[in-house]
Amino acid sequence: MTAASTLLDIHDVSLAFGGIQALDDVSLSMATGELLGLIGPNGSGKTTLLNAIGNLYTLDRGRIDFLGQRIDRLPLHDIALQGIARTFQVARVFRRMTVLENMLVPGYTANEAAQHTPGELGQRARDLLRFLDIDQLTHEQAGNLSGGQQKLLEFARALMLRPRLILLDEPFAGVHPLLKERMLERIGELHGQGIDFIVVSHDLPTILRLSSRLAVLANGRKIADGPPEEVRHQEAVIEAYLGV
Ligand SMILES: Nc1ncnc2c1ncn2[C@@H]1O[C@H](COP(=O)(O)OP(=O)(O)O)[C@@H](O)[C@H]1O
Ligand SMILES: [Mg+2]
Repeated sequence: MTAASTLLDIHDVSLAFGGIQALDDVSLSMATGELLGLIGPNGSGKTTLLNAIGNLYTLDRGRIDFLGQRIDRLPLHDIALQGIARTFQVARVFRRMTVLENMLVPGYTANEAAQHTPGELGQRARDLLRFLDIDQLTHEQAGNLSGGQQKLLEFARALMLRPRLILLDEPFAGVHPLLKERMLERIGELHGQGIDFIVVSHDLPTILRLSSRLAVLANGRKIADGPPEEVRHQEAVIEAYLGV
């Protein structure tokens, strides 16, 4: 077991869309080995923060470092190669491709294609589909899958590039309880294998069960951050998030 070190360092990040301050001076440092839950009311900036880490936007202020390297100015496709993968609030799959073809898309990045034969990539894709229990859908058109199955596919696809950090945006929303349990189990297993996660979710009981640490956003500001059982009882969190 190696000692924990800084995995991700979000430093004083601000980002506005027109007049909306979506992220307002957010700092958040994450060590290796953490499973960070990220909660907050609708519109509080959770998705924007994941997008900022994923380098979809140019920051107005601040910087983001990953494993000691500045990443917020890298070209978009470099983020995945650095070891960061993500899924979206509404799954983004290639609807007219089969499940297997969807899995192979990230495999064809220059890096992977240079390191692995098509046969190896295909085998890895099949192994991951089995791991997430959707291998019976291997040859189905992705557009025919249920919303929850699409989320599992997107999750499986995110694993193709062997990420170090996975960002999951509302992974359980609209997902059948059985698929959700499966997903929770798999997140736990992957975390045990050394993959760290940031999980955005509205589902407070689930996020409390899953996370080793909980951060709370409200109006683009981080209002709490710490052990889940402590954070949930903080007054500012109860006011902003739980609305009681
Ligand atoms: N691409 C965008 N263009 C304009 N406004 C946006 C965009 N993305 C998010 N916003 C706004 O930024 C704020 C934060 O949104 P978001 O990060 O999606 O919140 P959350 O995921 O916490 O519900 C909201 O007010 C939202 O309307
Ligand atoms: Mg969101």
